Amino acid sequence: MTFTEKYAAEIEGIIARFPHKKSAVLPLMHLAQHHYGYMSDEAMREVAAILDLDPTHILSLAGFYTLYYEEPVGKYVLEICNDLACALRGADQFVEMACGKLGIGVDETTADGLFTIKTVMCLAACDRAPMLQCNLKFEENLDEAKFDALLAQWREQAAAETIDTSVVEKITAYAKDSKQLAVSS
Ligand code: FES
Repeated sequence: MTFTEKYAAEIEGIIARFPHKKSAVLPLMHLAQHHYGYMSDEAMREVAAILDLDPTHILSLAGFYTLYYEEPVGKYVLEICNDLACALRGADQFVEMACGKLGIGVDETTADGLFTIKTVMCLAACDRAPMLQCNLKFEENLDEAKFDALLAQWREQAAAETIDTSVVEKITAYAKDSKQLAVSS
């Protein structure tokens, strides 16, 4: 099933909230990425077709914003902030620890396809570092024990094939309220 078919109601609802349908491009890209796992050619073509945009416009947006992935990524993308304020609270050591536990480097994905680690610029939670964002949810004040617990939780979810509907809810809420997508836990 295509993204357009599966989320027809959500797409219609998001577009209806904007005075010009082209303004719905970012939330629709999030929804397409949620469906396909990354901004695949198919995802870009579908969003472009829905909004009467050129696919190259979608491509340029996907390249500009770090929350859009142009290559396949793991089911859980761990975006760890290692910008200055977080670095002062041990973010670089946290990244090293996380990479070591998963046996991958930054911008790499585990062999089971579950986890990708990325480093990102400030996510506006500087006083709660080390922190990361995963599936639009902040995990803050992290240490090794908390990271172990999160890995266990994500692996359990993946094994149970639990569908996280909160991502779709956040995307549609974003379009409705024009608030930022990520929220503190
Ligand atoms: S520097 Fe990391 S959240 Fe601000």
